[in-house]
Amino acid sequence: MTDYRLLKACRREPVDRTPVWIMRQAGRYLPEYRKLREAHDFLTLCKTPDLAAEVTIQPIERFGLDAAILFSDILIPVEAMGVPLEFHEQKGPLLGKQIRAMRDVDSLKTPDPEESMPFVMETIRILRRALDGKAPLIGFSGGPFTLASYIIEGGSSKNFILLKTLMYQAPEIYRALMDKLTRTVISFLNAQIAAGAQVVQIFDTWAGILTRSDYEEYALPYSRRVLEELTRKDVPVIHFANDCAALLPSIKTLPVDVISVDWRLPLDEAAQMAGPEKALQGNMDPTMLFSPPEKIHERVRDVLLRAEKASSHIFNLGHGILPPTDPEHVSAMVEAVHRFGRKL
Ligand code: CP3
Repeated sequence: MTDYRLLKACRREPVDRTPVWIMRQAGRYLPEYRKLREAHDFLTLCKTPDLAAEVTIQPIERFGLDAAILFSDILIPVEAMGVPLEFHEQKGPLLGKQIRAMRDVDSLKTPDPEESMPFVMETIRILRRALDGKAPLIGFSGGPFTLASYIIEGGSSKNFILLKTLMYQAPEIYRALMDKLTRTVISFLNAQIAAGAQVVQIFDTWAGILTRSDYEEYALPYSRRVLEELTRKDVPVIHFANDCAALLPSIKTLPVDVISVDWRLPLDEAAQMAGPEKALQGNMDPTMLFSPPEKIHERVRDVLLRAEKASSHIFNLGHGILPPTDPEHVSAMVEAVHRFGRKL
């Protein structure tokens, strides 16, 4: 059970071939997902364990990937804290609570995961039975900073002006919010691990919008606290931040097993920066999947060649797969990893 190649690669042990999975691997680029979405909205899929489990398994069956990632969203625990959440076809997530004063933070709950998000843990339990022997299951959470960005901005953002205004002008309110988010993330990840998640990934997607010193002051200490308070048993942790190059010297000080690198930084350089004690994940540009299969093969080889400088490597994209991607091109990518990846 513990000899899945993904788990071995997380522990920096030799693997029979490079493991491969894809961020956002269950989603709109798959016709079988779109078919289910015709009948159910996104949040209903997330909150119905049998459906969430079915969607989780779709890309495993189609591509034979080396890991399944729980079908859910990083904003699920934010809704459980008492922030109204909607998903809009064009605008993406919309969060309905302003955080401008301390009383706004005070009104947020620190939810008990088994009570307020039981569907997540139930989905994990169904998946562990369904996936047994096929693939390990990755659980996840947003990082406190990234979750704060969605709450404060009320959704996705371009320049994060509301977030930075609060951070710089009302640090005590910002820190009170971060403290609540940190406690929420700790209990949520611990509940996922207790339910059976075999790896967890922390999506601190928007950390890369900060200067290194602001990251160290306003985000890193909260991520560190999350990691220190996980009851992980032997569950490895993967850290993802988009646009992470400038932050790698700080990120590598976190007690994580794997650093997921976006596509901008060549993996050989990332390996040098991260050092021999971290495994690396990544990092093909998701838009490379819009090129012809021969070109995809070439680029996969390039990523794999550079990854030889890392002590261990999990192949992935540098960020989530994009909805217009052709699944045939994903097959070409996976096939190339199988063909050219590390061998024992
Ligand atoms: O990786 C997986 O397949 C597991 C499921 C997963 C989803 N979202 C499903 C999803 C995971 C791990 C996430 C993480 C997530 N969600 C992040 C961090 C990772 C990243 O990609 O940066 C963020 C920032 C979110 C917030 C979010 N959820 C946004 C901004 C959006 C809208 C943009 C979009 O792609 O539609 C979502 C919606 C979302 N999350 C969808 C899926 C499959 C699309 C929903 C639909 O079917 O309409």
